[in-house]
Amino acid sequence: MSKNDIVILGIESSCDDTSAAIVKDGVVLSNIIANQDIHKAYGGVVPELASRAHQQNIIPVVDAAIKQAGVSISEISSIAFTRGPGLLGSLLVGTSFAKGFALVNNIPLVEANHLQAHVLAHFAKEKGMEIKSPEFPFLCLLVSGGHTQIIRVNDYFEMEILGNTIDDAAGEAFDKCAKTIGLSYPGGPLVDKLAKLGNEKAFTFTKPKVANLDFSFSGLKTAFLYFVRDRVKENKTFVKENINDLCASIQYTIVDILLNKLKLASKQTGIKNIAIAGGVSANSKLRNTLISESTNNNWNVYIPEFKYTTDNAAMIAITGYYKYLRNEFVEQDVAPMARMKF
Ligand code: KG4
Ligand code: ZN
Repeated sequence: MSKNDIVILGIESSCDDTSAAIVKDGVVLSNIIANQDIHKAYGGVVPELASRAHQQNIIPVVDAAIKQAGVSISEISSIAFTRGPGLLGSLLVGTSFAKGFALVNNIPLVEANHLQAHVLAHFAKEKGMEIKSPEFPFLCLLVSGGHTQIIRVNDYFEMEILGNTIDDAAGEAFDKCAKTIGLSYPGGPLVDKLAKLGNEKAFTFTKPKVANLDFSFSGLKTAFLYFVRDRVKENKTFVKENINDLCASIQYTIVDILLNKLKLASKQTGIKNIAIAGGVSANSKLRNTLISESTNNNWNVYIPEFKYTTDNAAMIAITGYYKYLRNEFVEQDVAPMARMKF
């Protein structure tokens, strides 16, 4: 390690994953994630339990990230932490740890916006791997459990939200529909898996009519709930007999809604560099549809590696790296923010 190397410790604790990562000069050396299985029993994230689990996980996770990367604490140039948006009790754990660690070791702090970090995950480099990062300007469809946005990305920290959900997020639609048919939390990956065995045209669900580049998923979620409830009244084993088709059909509908808005955004802006990010960008139907649409629309598409789709600290450390290059540090009085704009 030379004196000029920039080594960033990233810390993420905005929801139910505790994660720490080390990034050296933009290259990810480690990315440790501790998931919290405790929420499965409740069908969704319980904020108080998430906060407590973060407290238990944070020290071993940071320790593992530093050890795996083979760096020493004295070599860390800066600590990047998720300031928001997210669950306040969860954010407090990562923020407090980052502040304490920075103070004790005399290391400067940088803050990261969780949503910007999902987008900037596209700039994470890997040792010995050729990674194609998007060229500016690009459009990024950010789809997670809490957000559904189309973002125009002009530069690392020059982002503009062109479209947003007016109610539920796409990930929430996946999770809630999954819950309706008895799948455990988070349902998105399970729907994806079962959909591979089903017919996506078996059932049709009405798509919402929302102006411009905005989204809505709450009507779809309710329509799915009523549809399943009515069919079960007629046939008690309806869900069991049709689970693959139900998953394929709801997944098809959600992906179609997302792709239609993305096409409109590309048409309105003339931008043909298209990226996806966030937990739902792990969805195989979304990834495959984006690839097939790229030829029809002349798009350059950027699909993140699976490990950078759901919440992780590598994306926080990458964000920290670019902030470090701009000398954008924060002081010890920084506090987490449940809601945080770009
Ligand atoms: O980005 P993320 O880890 O956390 C938030 O910031 O929300 O996203 C989690 C969301 C969950 O709703 C989960 O069901 C969804 O991403 N998800 C998927 C898939 N993998 C994760 N949804 C559909 N298909 C998948 N393969
Ligand atoms: Zn996220």
